[in-house]
Amino acid sequence: MYSDFKVISSYYDALYVNDREYAPEAAKVKELLARHGAPSRADLLVLACGTGGHIPYFKDDYHVSGLDLSEDMLDLAREKFPDIRFHLGNLIDFTLETEFDVMICLYGSIGFVKTEDNLRASMKRIATHLRPNGLALITPWSTVEDFQDLIVVDAADNPDLKIARMEQVRLKEPKIVEVTFHHLLGKNNDVTYHKQSMEIGLFSREEYLSAMTDAGLKIVEEYTGTDVRGGAYIGKRAAG
Ligand SMILES: C[S@@+](CC[C@H](N)C(=O)[O-])C[C@H]1O[C@@H](n2cnc3c(N)ncnc32)[C@H](O)[C@@H]1O
Repeated sequence: MYSDFKVISSYYDALYVNDREYAPEAAKVKELLARHGAPSRADLLVLACGTGGHIPYFKDDYHVSGLDLSEDMLDLAREKFPDIRFHLGNLIDFTLETEFDVMICLYGSIGFVKTEDNLRASMKRIATHLRPNGLALITPWSTVEDFQDLIVVDAADNPDLKIARMEQVRLKEPKIVEVTFHHLLGKNNDVTYHKQSMEIGLFSREEYLSAMTDAGLKIVEEYTGTDVRGGAYIGKRAAG
C-alpha cells in the first residue's frame, strides 16, 4: 500500500515546512556533503522531495533536481520552482537518464518504502545513478533501536489557514510503524477534519548500513546531530 499524500499535500507546506527546521538541516547537509568531497555546483537529486521544502536552501549551491512518487506533491513543487526539473518516480525502481554527484533523501522519507527488500532495491537504484565518488546521504525514519510509540501535537496559525494536528505513532507489526494523522483544518470560516493512516518501515541501523554497502556504497559517516532530523548515513560510491 502506497501512503498517498493527495489530501495532505494541499496543506503540507503550511503544516510541516518551516525555516526553523529546514534551514539548519539543509545547512548541516551542505556541510556534510562538502566534508566528503561533493564538488561545487554538484548535480544533486533530492529523493522523495515532496513539495520541495529543502530546495530553496540548495538551489543556489548545486544543480538541483527532485524525484517523488506523488503527483500531488510534485505539482506543488513545480509550481513553486518552475526552473527546477522534477521526476515522477518510485525510490525502489526509478530509472533516470542522468547520473548525479549527490543524492539526498531527507526527513525519514526512505521509511515509506516499507520493506527491507524495498530498502535494498532503493539503495541499488541510488548507487546505480551515482557517479564515481558520488555521495548518498540518507536520513533514516527512526530505527528499531531508537523507536518509541508517541503522540505528536502541534499547530500552525496562518491568516488563511489554521491547523491543529495530533499524530499517533505506534508499532503496528514488528517492523511496521503506523502513523495516524488527525488534522483539524480551519479555513474560510469552516473547520474540517482529516484522518489518515500511513505505514512506514522500521529498519535497524544494521539494515540501513548493509543495504547501502551491499549496493556498493562505502559508509563514510554516520551523523547523529539533531539538526538533521533522524541523523544521516552517508555513503560514497567507489572511484571509477
Ligand atoms: C513526509 S514527506 C517528506 C517530503 C520532503 N522530503 C520533506 O522533507 O519535506 C514524504 C515524501 O516521500 C514521498 N514518497 C513516499 N514513498 C515514496 C517512494 N517509494 N518513492 C518516492 N517518493 C516517495 C511522498 O510522496 C512524500 O512526498
